[in-house]
Amino acid sequence: MKAVHCLNGPNLNLLGSREPELYGSATLDSIAAELSALCAARGIALHFRQSNHEGDLVDWVQDAGLKGEPIILNAGAYTHTSIALQDAIRGAKAKVIEVHLSNVHAREDFRRHSFISPVAQGVILGFGALSYRLALDACIALATASES
Ligand code: DQA
Repeated sequence: MKAVHCLNGPNLNLLGSREPELYGSATLDSIAAELSALCAARGIALHFRQSNHEGDLVDWVQDAGLKGEPIILNAGAYTHTSIALQDAIRGAKAKVIEVHLSNVHAREDFRRHSFISPVAQGVILGFGALSYRLALDACIALATASES
């Protein structure tokens, strides 16, 4: 695996100050720094992005998917609403690991449905910032298995 994309959806730019009892105190910058160090140690390029706009996420999913590069995706609330993101993942044959900081199944009913899960390779949720590290480990393990 030469590159991995970590794409983050709406309101995740507020991590650190946004509902810390749900999402923890880590900022998105600190998560990016941690993933960046882990990737650098393995010679993997990390493309870490956040947008509050659905179309940006669609563009980035298409781009990574068409290049055959895996994606760690926390689509935020678009997880529960975005047919466009599901279509982008299918259309570009993107390899996605869905990530959430919080345990969405222990929250409101509307968070229990994901448009991403049916087209994801797997889902990691509920571990706060650790969810991202676990997703990176999963990406590396899947890529290593498919290369050997
Ligand atoms: C989230 C869970 C979503 O339901 C919510 O809309 C978010 C964050 C999480 O990481 O726990 O924005 O994706």
